[in-house]
Amino acid sequence: MRVVSGIQTTGNLHLGNYLGAIKQWVAMQDQVAAKGGDCLFFLADLHALTVANDPKDLAAHTIEMAATLIAAGIDPARAILFNQARVRAHAELCWILQGTARMGWLNRMTQWKDKAGKNREGASVGLFTYPVLQAADVLVYKATHVPVGEDQKQHLELARDIATKFNTDFGVELFPLPDPLVSEAAPRIMSLRDGGAKMSKSDPSDMTRVNLTDTDDLIAQKFRKARTDPEPLPDTMAALADRPEARNLVTIYAALADRTSQSVVEEYAGQGFGTFKPALADLAISILAPIRDRIAELLKDSEAVQAHLRDGAARASALAAPTLKEAQNAVGL
Ligand code: ADP
Ligand code: NA
Repeated sequence: MRVVSGIQTTGNLHLGNYLGAIKQWVAMQDQVAAKGGDCLFFLADLHALTVANDPKDLAAHTIEMAATLIAAGIDPARAILFNQARVRAHAELCWILQGTARMGWLNRMTQWKDKAGKNREGASVGLFTYPVLQAADVLVYKATHVPVGEDQKQHLELARDIATKFNTDFGVELFPLPDPLVSEAAPRIMSLRDGGAKMSKSDPSDMTRVNLTDTDDLIAQKFRKARTDPEPLPDTMAALADRPEARNLVTIYAALADRTSQSVVEEYAGQGFGTFKPALADLAISILAPIRDRIAELLKDSEAVQAHLRDGAARASALAAPTLKEAQNAVGL
């Protein structure tokens, strides 16, 4: 079993990223290790180049995100943690796979359509070919499983199509088809001010999200000011169906406490948000404060964080090199 997953280096990680992605990676690291498999987690700095990029920010975000992942529980001795740009096989295999991927396939990608919007002529070429780099990211390690959210399923499907066509065109059995790993536990966390929007780093208002670097006071304030309704909590999740903001706070509580949402509403049934919000804030602080403090501690010695990334890149390169060689041989390079 080999699990590969990446996260774009864009800074400002929030509670949605933690509960929806990072916490799942930490759990996966233990489960996969128990089965004798490998986990590779990378910071997708090459992907970050497909949109407007400030070179100073990119370097800083890469280090901050590495520190965040380690602080949240990724163990760089067990998992392979690295940044994509340092393992050249990603970009080299991507170029080879661009000979296999079809324009029509990429044209159908809904993320491309969403991200390019109406200005397709002005979008970067990299934004269009982004899913081919994603295919290379996983195929270069012959990944067996790729953790994906709903929004990335189409890109993994594309990676499987590219792998199949490559294997067929060149008469090789080089790339196994990676399977999606859909985590049942991964919740979708919504904005604290608008239950219809995802909690996101791109939301202009900072009060809509809890950042992993927020102080205890700010975390408490953000939950206190979170939009809710005047009704007390019911005793079933089903009764929260048309109360998205209330449901979101229960979802956050349950995910932080590793409990089911149903058990949380049962505990607080009949109580209002005057009781629930402070309990949620205390719980969030008890989990996020140690992570925040470890991030700060790790960033005091950024050279040590760099050393982890260099070590991860060396281990990843050793795994990627034979696959790249086989791909080069297959196409006649
Ligand atoms: P953002 O939406 O803030 O720009 P990204 O798109 O960079 O975040 O996502 C990084 C990872 O965090 C992905 O695995 C994504 O599925 C997860 N993620 C992002 N926002 C949320 C959210 N609100 N709830 C759950 N998971 C999320
Ligand atoms: Na996003």
